[in-house]
Amino acid sequence: MRSDAFVFFGASGDLAYKQVFPALQALSRRGQLDMPVIGVGRSGWNVDQFRARARDSVEKHGGLDPEPFAKLSARLLYVDGDYRDDATFAQLRRTLQSAARPLHYLAIPPSMFTPVVQGLAKSGCAKDARVIVEKPFGRDLASAQALNRTLHEFFPESAIFRIDHYLGKEPVENLLYFRFANAFLEPIWNRNYVASVQITMAENFGIEGRGRFYEEVGAIRDVVQNHMLQVIALLAMDAPIGRGADAVRDEKLRIFSAMRPLVPAEIVRGQFKGYRDEKGVAPDSQVETFAAVRLHIETWRWAGVPFYIRAGKRLPITATEVVVELKPPPQTVFDDSQPCPSNYFRFRISPDVLISVGTRIKRPGEGMVGEAAELIAHQHSGEEMTPYTRLLGDAIRGDGSLFTRDDCVEAAWRVIDPILENIAPVFEYEPDTWGPREAELIVKGEGCWRDPIHSQQPGSRL
Ligand code: BG6
Repeated sequence: MRSDAFVFFGASGDLAYKQVFPALQALSRRGQLDMPVIGVGRSGWNVDQFRARARDSVEKHGGLDPEPFAKLSARLLYVDGDYRDDATFAQLRRTLQSAARPLHYLAIPPSMFTPVVQGLAKSGCAKDARVIVEKPFGRDLASAQALNRTLHEFFPESAIFRIDHYLGKEPVENLLYFRFANAFLEPIWNRNYVASVQITMAENFGIEGRGRFYEEVGAIRDVVQNHMLQVIALLAMDAPIGRGADAVRDEKLRIFSAMRPLVPAEIVRGQFKGYRDEKGVAPDSQVETFAAVRLHIETWRWAGVPFYIRAGKRLPITATEVVVELKPPPQTVFDDSQPCPSNYFRFRISPDVLISVGTRIKRPGEGMVGEAAELIAHQHSGEEMTPYTRLLGDAIRGDGSLFTRDDCVEAAWRVIDPILENIAPVFEYEPDTWGPREAELIVKGEGCWRDPIHSQQPGSRL
């Protein structure tokens, strides 16, 4: 059933400003926001100031679309108050009027989750309601379990929507679709044919003023435990059995549970030079801005196949790309001076989108010598719908398929937990490089890192 009111806490915060208002305008454009939209914040604003903030947000992030924005603006209501004060929630209950199935979005720091869900429950605002929570879902296994316990005190799991915005990206969904809507992949998608799988999430920017936040998380908690492991789960899982929100999540859970918990030798951490000079960063910070990881999935399908992850800030470009490399042909049949490079599948997730297969073809001429050619299955310049538009729309409809379930979150932490807390040393790297040299150790003897390139130049990269 559709929610009948959209409430968001943290209405004056950064996330609301950059993501939530633009997504709400997009939902209004799509005719999917036929309900009151109530912001809750602590800025001492009135509703006019709140509406002005919404206008400013969409102007800066994607552009103001007059008609949908006017409709959105007319639906906006604002509740101001402390998140620990019962009066705030009493006012929210009054503002909800006759709404019977509100959706509460907690766009606030995790330390505020407990008082807010308690306030919602006490005031009657949690009845028949749904709740959206933002990552990070805890900072290790124990805190994730504690957070889940708190949420479950007031909401059933089916009413909890944990946002990992990577799951709202069209090309990430396409990993699943491409794998299981085609029959040709499945016979080779296993240890007999796949040599390795690697994901690079490169960002050429730094931490952009988020020093205090980043000091609390680092690259492993910020993007590896969630975005990267989710992408691996989609690449490695078996076909879902049946439909519905749990079919895919059940299969993902099997993969998370089969991931061997990491040990320090399977991770290299890096920190870009200059990170310690950022505002909010400790002068002797050991927090990683780069991580390279070798992961193993202990299933019949994937035994012995390394899954490599590399994620970092201040790398040479911004791009996220998956390369699934196949084993080479068993013999060299032709005149190529070197052994033929292997075939591969390449999934470019951002900023542009691509699905391609790396092959060899004969170069025209007398010799039987080849060259690389990429078969492009799909290519376009970027996302049509932002992940937040997609995910908030799904949550309003009550569709949890693209949200992370409690057991999946905990299983993913189980993989990461042993390498948290500075267990591995952190190596410095120059900005605009591919991380510390030590990252080579992760792939040593088994292959090499495949650096994504700037823009699409099919056939020219491997
Ligand atoms: C967020 C991280 O979850 O994802 C950021 O907190 C990161 O550090 C961002 O930059 C990347 O997301 P996208 O969609 O811009 O690639």
